[in-house]
Amino acid sequence: MIQFDFSNKNYIVTGGAGGMGREVVRGIVAGGGNVALVDINAEAAAKVCAEAPEQIHFYKMDLADHANIRAVAAQIITDMGQVHGLVNLGGIVDTTKFADMTDEIWDRVMNINLNSQYVLIHALFHHMAEHHYGRIVNVASVAGKVGGGLFGTTAYAVSKAGVICLTKGIAKEGSPYGISCNAVCPGYVNTPLVASIPSQQIEKILAGNLLHRSAEPREVAILMLFYLSDLASFITGEIGDADGGATQD
Ligand SMILES: NC(=O)c1ccc[n+]([C@@H]2O[C@H](COP(=O)([O-])OP(=O)(O)OC[C@H]3O[C@@H](n4cnc5c(N)ncnc54)[C@H](O)[C@@H]3O)[C@@H](O)[C@H]2O)c1
Repeated sequence: MIQFDFSNKNYIVTGGAGGMGREVVRGIVAGGGNVALVDINAEAAAKVCAEAPEQIHFYKMDLADHANIRAVAAQIITDMGQVHGLVNLGGIVDTTKFADMTDEIWDRVMNINLNSQYVLIHALFHHMAEHHYGRIVNVASVAGKVGGGLFGTTAYAVSKAGVICLTKGIAKEGSPYGISCNAVCPGYVNTPLVASIPSQQIEKILAGNLLHRSAEPREVAILMLFYLSDLASFITGEIGDADGGATQD
């Protein structure tokens, strides 16, 4: 993995215990940064924290709970001091067919995948503005560009389309305060999130990208780390695809 310079800086990574999250955490640690690893899965988080206990600290957060997000964000600022960057990676997939959709499922998908990103950015916005520095990376999906259909269905796709627009809006409104905001749209990545997809469907998904294979988490995490780093100092409002050429836009 290419090493970026995150030395003497502090970052929040939601979903940090997940397949892509742990690669982002590792990349920050390798670059000398400190991480507040945020996740709901304490057991999986403990394993990641054990890799570098002095640099990675676990904070349990439920992305479905706005008050909890704001309280934990405030605690992280108290503990870490300046928070330089945020990677909004935590999320769920939903495969409910529209015909079977319920308001409860719809609201849960929006809350965890989209509203949580808004709430956490908002909870950090004034803090980052005070320091005139903040690098935010949101994770969307190819589904947010094409309306789903690969594995996530409509609710998942709409939540990710919202992330794309949130990213552009925050880039516009954050730039006067030194805050950048970019998004990454992964294609199909080998993580626990997609472990339950039937093999027939996987073949169909892989046929839709130019490389005809899935990505390893680090191949996508690298773009998140780049946007998070100061090497991307002139890049904001960008929606970057790491999808094996599936969308080519
Ligand atoms: N894997 C793919 O093919 C793929 C493709 C496109 C987009 N994505 C997106 O990438 C992101 C990361 O996915 P991944 O593939 O690493 O999945 P993953 O399931 O390995 O990781 C997701 C993490 O989010 C955490 N999480 C879930 N619900 C939570 C909640 N309510 N509160 C706090 N944490 C919660 C999980 O515990 C997990 O650690 C997601 O936003 C996903 O939508 C993944």
